[in-house]
Amino acid sequence: MALSLEPLFPLALGRVQLALDPLDLALLMQAVLELRGEAEGNPLEGCAWTGDINGVWQVHRLQAFAAISQAVQQHAWAYLQGLGFDPTQVALHIQRAWPVVSEPGQVVGRHHHPNAHLSAIVYLNGDGTGRSGCLRLFPPRQVNELVPGLAVGHGGPIDGDSDAGQCWNAPWLDLAPRAGLLLLFPASTDHAVTANEDPDDVRLSLAFDLALSAPLAEGEHAPPEYLAPHPAQWSDLPVP
Ligand SMILES: [Fe+2]
Repeated sequence: MALSLEPLFPLALGRVQLALDPLDLALLMQAVLELRGEAEGNPLEGCAWTGDINGVWQVHRLQAFAAISQAVQQHAWAYLQGLGFDPTQVALHIQRAWPVVSEPGQVVGRHHHPNAHLSAIVYLNGDGTGRSGCLRLFPPRQVNELVPGLAVGHGGPIDGDSDAGQCWNAPWLDLAPRAGLLLLFPASTDHAVTANEDPDDVRLSLAFDLALSAPLAEGEHAPPEYLAPHPAQWSDLPVP
């Protein structure tokens, strides 16, 4: 009898290829480049331009991005329902949405979005090869490396090129951008963007921070204990 290995507690990556009209995609790309203006990157040397720290953090409120934001909304709900959420017991919000423009050679360092609950990315260009830079997702914990640090490699005993090593101990997963590809994953997931190695093209994407709250509470119905009440029912506390 052979031993079998069973995957437990999988991380949920949502993936859908949106059927976007090439003209609409071209208009979105043009809108992103206009929003970036003369900027070439973030203050950090070699880092792609990200709208969130450059004053462009609410593209979902702009008409040019209304349709793509609606597609994110639709698939974000599908993602939640796929995870077992009851849509009548939760409210979903776009907290922030911004473009990312990666020039040749630029990267985005490893990070996650602790302010949000769900991350979404839409790629406006990319041919699926990954040459303009891949999204790199990191596992929350390397639970199968047994000895902490082994899966990083550096000549260790885990053969990272083997099927087994890839399946059970991959230190990260690279996803190649493709025009119209929408990805969703928990906002707590560490991620990065590898270098744009296409000397002739910029890499364009839209990022979304989504947050969950309780639905608007009515009458005697208090929000469930572990969800923040709906933001419309929060009270500002100005400095006295
Ligand atoms: Fe990010």
